[in-house]
Amino acid sequence: MSWWRDMVCYEVYPRAFADSNGDGVGDLPGVTARLEHIKDLGADAVWITPFYPSPLADGGYDIADYTGVAGDLGTAEDFTELTLRAHELGLKLLADLVPNHTSDQHPWFRAALAAAPGSAERQMYLFRPGRGADGELPPNDWQSAFGGPAWTRVPDGEWYCHLHAPEQPDLDWRNPKVRDAFTGVLRHWLDRGVDGFRVDVAHALFKAEGLPDAGPGQHTDPWRNHLMPYYDQEELHPLYREWRALLDTHPAPPGAVAPPDRVMVAESAVFDPARLGRYIRHDEMHQAFNFAFLEAAWDAVELRAVVDGSYAVPGSAVTWLLSSHDAVRPATRLGSLRRARAAALLMLALPGSAYLYQGEELGLPQAEIPDDRILDPLWERSGRTERGRDGARVPLPWSGEHAPYGFSTAAPGGTWLPQPDGWAALTVAAQQRDPASTLALYRKALRLRRAHPAPDPTAPPAWLSAPDDPVLAFRRGELVCVVNLGAESVPLGLPGRPALASGPLDGDRLPPDTALWLIDPSCEGRADDL
Ligand code: NOJ
Repeated sequence: MSWWRDMVCYEVYPRAFADSNGDGVGDLPGVTARLEHIKDLGADAVWITPFYPSPLADGGYDIADYTGVAGDLGTAEDFTELTLRAHELGLKLLADLVPNHTSDQHPWFRAALAAAPGSAERQMYLFRPGRGADGELPPNDWQSAFGGPAWTRVPDGEWYCHLHAPEQPDLDWRNPKVRDAFTGVLRHWLDRGVDGFRVDVAHALFKAEGLPDAGPGQHTDPWRNHLMPYYDQEELHPLYREWRALLDTHPAPPGAVAPPDRVMVAESAVFDPARLGRYIRHDEMHQAFNFAFLEAAWDAVELRAVVDGSYAVPGSAVTWLLSSHDAVRPATRLGSLRRARAAALLMLALPGSAYLYQGEELGLPQAEIPDDRILDPLWERSGRTERGRDGARVPLPWSGEHAPYGFSTAAPGGTWLPQPDGWAALTVAAQQRDPASTLALYRKALRLRRAHPAPDPTAPPAWLSAPDDPVLAFRRGELVCVVNLGAESVPLGLPGRPALASGPLDGDRLPPDTALWLIDPSCEGRADDL
């Protein structure tokens, strides 16, 4: 079976992971030095979000050089060190590929601005004349995911398209030069030993011919706009087949410790299972993020429907995630740490692979960021109504009583995003000492999950609870998972020896917002010791 079908992949947001040189910004040597944390947790792979040169208009997702390393994060040699150390520890390393847009500081865009309308330089992007008597209106009605029109006008009167911030101009994927350039980018990182890619906004690269209006159906939540002419176009699929073939055939870099076994995961906001399944056909992406699960409410009926729906996606390369650098931390989003811990046991028992985001294993809450420190472009683009995603991106607390909690040797308050007061009990060091900590829960869960693999990670679990039950109970091979999403404690009444609980049990009852893993008695004596 392919390793990635039930892998646990840990997302690293490098600026917030660990700072090796005391400048207040996490960096690549910091990640390398702390990889053992990820290994000890029990993950199989690391996905590292963009570490490339960037003016940081959108946290690094505005890239000015696709094959470079940002100066404040390190050097090309630091990246090689990171890859080598990851592989030494038996961890795969996935890089982030951001093909939909560049930074407005990328040499291609600077050249496009300097060149005339209609020039080859402009054709790398989506430049168009405006509408209205003097071209004063945007070329169409498309809205940016960060608010406002998806078009910005340049001094000579043309407009360019940006589905995100104006500093993130969209490339024209119908231009073969764009395609060729990205083939080079993939090869570059494969040659440096990466084991695959997470592909940013993988549903958006191609826009419908003629860039037609989206019409009145644009969703107020831009994430839901997958039926729009700027999302989910047919031309994406031949491109992903091409990339898959490259991943499958590109030679291993010299000195590789193992033959490449690469993986590509789509960040695709496509909620229709049939449409999503098209991204993970056998010769396209290996996986696509399961945003329906991330977005589900803490409700048994809804969660069960999402779980069943996830296995119904053709291709069944099922992924689960509760958090990312774009989402509100589960301990806040779900209403309590207690629920977040129960949700973790639910997720980690489901057959398929799981993505964890740094700090999730510590149960961090969403941090409050003071107005004058907010960096997320959503804040300004929304007219300061949406605070954005920075609260999930504050530097990780590693140790100590006060900020920067071992993240950095910078002075307190000297980190690029401020850490809250009161995180001393949430540090890795503090949680390592506490067998009841969230870190201990994740570690045990990852070990148990490995010891009791799902017989088929592509097949739904066998439900032991009724569809309208506020308790979710299912079997993953030898392991039984039961989660109480109701308001009352319930009798356990299930076979098996309790192996791991997300919170204290109430005698032989399972309290609300608590999950329990049991090991089937017929499997006693197997490798489930912790
Ligand atoms: C998805 C990334 O995860 C997010 O952080 C970014 O803002 C957008 N794509 C645009 O690149």
